[in-house]
Amino acid sequence: MGIQDSIIINLQKIGDRRGNLSIIEEHKQIPFEIKRVYYLYDVPGGERRGGHAYKDNQEFIVALSGSFDVKLDDGIGVKTFSLNRSYYGLYVPAGLWREMENFSTNSLALILSSTDYDERDYIMNYEEFKQWREKR
Ligand code: TYD
Repeated sequence: MGIQDSIIINLQKIGDRRGNLSIIEEHKQIPFEIKRVYYLYDVPGGERRGGHAYKDNQEFIVALSGSFDVKLDDGIGVKTFSLNRSYYGLYVPAGLWREMENFSTNSLALILSSTDYDERDYIMNYEEFKQWREKR
């Protein structure tokens, strides 16, 4: 999987005078089973998150509030996605280096993951990541 496999997925927006509602279901809007949900909030201005890769874990990231950028790197190229609406998200396949930055005040990042948390799935060192990609 390379950065060309990372895609913005538009979600249905059901709106009426009471507001909007969007839906994410495993194997429907997103191509994996949801094992884990976590969210990032109260991120101080200028702070970065991520800065690692997952060998197996896939993710779907939505800016439920505010905005932030997700930078993906497959060892060959880099692509940055700006997320700032609740009705779409970014599908991140396994095996990419990812960083999150430029969080706006009060931003809320929802992350759906395909695997249970496992620190052995992380590659924390960029050079190690590049070597791992080349070996695959
Ligand atoms: P980390 O994955 O480094 O966060 P980010 O990629 O947003 O910078 O995780 C930060 C801490 O939280 C680290 O100590 C591991 C822990 N953690 C869990 O225990 N379970 C989880 O599902 C996640 C994502 C993190």
